Amino acid sequence: MKKYITDFTIVGKQVFSETYFSLTLKHPDRLPEIAAGQFVEVEVPGNKQVMLRRPISIHDVDVENNTLSLLVQVVGKGTRTLSMMSVGDKLNLVYPLGHGFSIEGNKVLLVGGGAGIAPLLHLSKCFASKGIRPTVLLGGRTEAMIPVRKEFEPYGDTFFATEDGSLGEKGMVTQHSKFTTDYDHIYTCGPTPMMKAVARHAMANNIECEVSLENMMACGIGACLCCVVDSDEGHKCVCKEGPVFNINKLKNWTK
Ligand SMILES: Cc1cc2nc3c(=O)[nH]c(=O)nc-3n(C[C@H](O)[C@H](O)[C@H](O)COP(=O)(O)OP(=O)(O)OC[C@H]3O[C@@H](n4cnc5c(N)ncnc54)[C@H](O)[C@@H]3O)c2cc1C
Ligand code: FES
Repeated sequence: MKKYITDFTIVGKQVFSETYFSLTLKHPDRLPEIAAGQFVEVEVPGNKQVMLRRPISIHDVDVENNTLSLLVQVVGKGTRTLSMMSVGDKLNLVYPLGHGFSIEGNKVLLVGGGAGIAPLLHLSKCFASKGIRPTVLLGGRTEAMIPVRKEFEPYGDTFFATEDGSLGEKGMVTQHSKFTTDYDHIYTCGPTPMMKAVARHAMANNIECEVSLENMMACGIGACLCCVVDSDEGHKCVCKEGPVFNINKLKNWTK
């Protein structure tokens, strides 16, 4: 799939909490096709300490308005600089990168944790466009760590798990009453321990499962090999051959 390096204009910004915000970015022309789970490499402007672009999942796509949106958690200098950008500012993106989720299955569970919620909105919409309404299970330490909620409701049956019980059921997503064996496919993105627990459940119950890995990245295009993961076919670049992988392909993921 062709990659583009393009300036986008920020046309919307939502601040959800001290740590989470979203940006809606408008392209001057028609957007290319973007698969759920693909990501962008964002150039962080005006901060000389941030040399490398930062990988961020494509959270939402609006083909009619030529916009895409990013949901970002502030964790360091790059994401903090992005959080200070305003409507009207320009951002340079390399996109769409990586391989996204397969849109397969009839009884589908999406499990997101923290910033891993980001790619699941576009994924929910892709399922909805095929007439499939997924169950969406979103988790975080507290309510504030699940910044996007009602956006999922038109596309999926949405449930929450928080460690402090401030939203939905108290506990981890893997302890939630909707985290059952009633699915033929599970798609997940979030902290690695969460995804590994989800993958173990899927493997034990013969459920197809895809995980979206968030390994540290530099080039984002398969050139520097800094993002590799061990697979049954040797090392794979998460940026180019992922970030989405079927768990059957990954080594040591369900142990
Ligand atoms: C394919 C992909 C998609 C991603 N999608 C999103 C998204 O939609 N929203 C979002 O908020 N974040 C996403 N991330 C994570 C995001 O890229 C990092 O949080 C960001 O690059 C950190 O940059 P920084 O300059 O703010 O932090 P830095 O100053 O570089 O680092 C601050 C801290 O964050 C840790 N960190 C840096 N990069 C990562 C990473 N990739 N994974 C885990 N910890 C990291 C560092 O170890 C350090 O502790 C994604 C990562 C990948 C690989
Ligand atoms: S980030 Fe350079 S090879 Fe993946």
